[in-house]
Amino acid sequence: MKKKLISIILAGAMIFSFAACQEAPVQPEADGTDVTTVSEPADTTEDTAVTGGKIGVSMPTQSLQRWNQDGSNMKEQLETAGYEVDLQYAGDNDIPTQVSQLENMISGGCSVLVIAAIDGSALGTVLQQAKDQGVVVIAYDRLIMDSDAVSYYATFDNWKVGTLQGQYIEQALDLANTDGPYNIELFTGSPDDNNINFFFGGAMEVLQPYIDSGKLVVLSGQTEKTQCATVNWSTEESQKRMENLIASQGYGPNSTKLDAVLSSNDSVANGITNALLAAGYTAENFPVLTGQDCDKPSVKNMIAGTQSMSVFKDTRTLAAQVVKMVDSILKGTEPEINDTETYNNNVKVVPSYLCEPVFGSAENYKELLIDSGYYTEADLA
Ligand code: BGC
Repeated sequence: MKKKLISIILAGAMIFSFAACQEAPVQPEADGTDVTTVSEPADTTEDTAVTGGKIGVSMPTQSLQRWNQDGSNMKEQLETAGYEVDLQYAGDNDIPTQVSQLENMISGGCSVLVIAAIDGSALGTVLQQAKDQGVVVIAYDRLIMDSDAVSYYATFDNWKVGTLQGQYIEQALDLANTDGPYNIELFTGSPDDNNINFFFGGAMEVLQPYIDSGKLVVLSGQTEKTQCATVNWSTEESQKRMENLIASQGYGPNSTKLDAVLSSNDSVANGITNALLAAGYTAENFPVLTGQDCDKPSVKNMIAGTQSMSVFKDTRTLAAQVVKMVDSILKGTEPEINDTETYNNNVKVVPSYLCEPVFGSAENYKELLIDSGYYTEADLA
């Protein structure tokens, strides 16, 4: 019942923020003020001829559903806008493959590269080649680090993803009004993905005060980001770590209580769910478990009661924003940007456009995912 209430409250917030994203792309600052849109949205409906040309789209892996969706949305929308598209997936997160695919895109005449980096710091040399040849680089979803060759960044508000997860745990356990103590374990994603600084940072901003006061207890003592990381966001790795935590701390439905597990995304949450099910947990006594992406297996788990929530990042919205960026760049106008402060890649602050992430759960998935055409009922059966 409590979970249902939280979901209703968060779903309300979700609808509000989704509407806000559609209408006015402004990014709230920590002090509550709004950063006004730095440049006017490019009007892609104008009849100025689109330059056309070839765009390289580099995705990290095909093994996670979201990147397949990102890739196919980008290809479809770019082609509709009149561009030729070279779409490549770098095997299963294989860095040398991503580098050689990018080299081929540059030599093959792409004028813009849209890159979701596997390792945000591993692309220095190939990006220098791009820069030398006047190829514009857009970082997609994940920031490209340590390079001045990246011109723009399009992503979701990654800090907010983390705060949505932290706030969900805060409300599900009613941390503000009860004494606890509650046991929690913490999981985040790949250490080479700059996004985890935001996902983990945003969640810990909410949870750390409760850990400090002793209301939340991490029995393993593993609270540092590096201790909580999951290489390649791997389901197998998170399952192994959760199994180890169950064994070392004695967690179980009839032994040491585990109240919540923070997970930064769905692929990591799936491994945690597998380990908890194997330890005897059922939907009736399942720990609160967060996620991100609303991947199909996780939506099914939410419906079954073996994952509590996820964060939906509509890849159609991100793709549409990037297509507008590409269009503006090739027309020689300024792309729409709504954040010029947050994303420093160690060389410069990269002008960014942040889309709005939204709360998803078993209560609102129909409206969020099926009514919006993202999935069919059959996808989730
Ligand atoms: C993305 C997440 C995704 C994760 C694993 C992150 O960079 O923002 O949406 O779940 O990578 O692929």
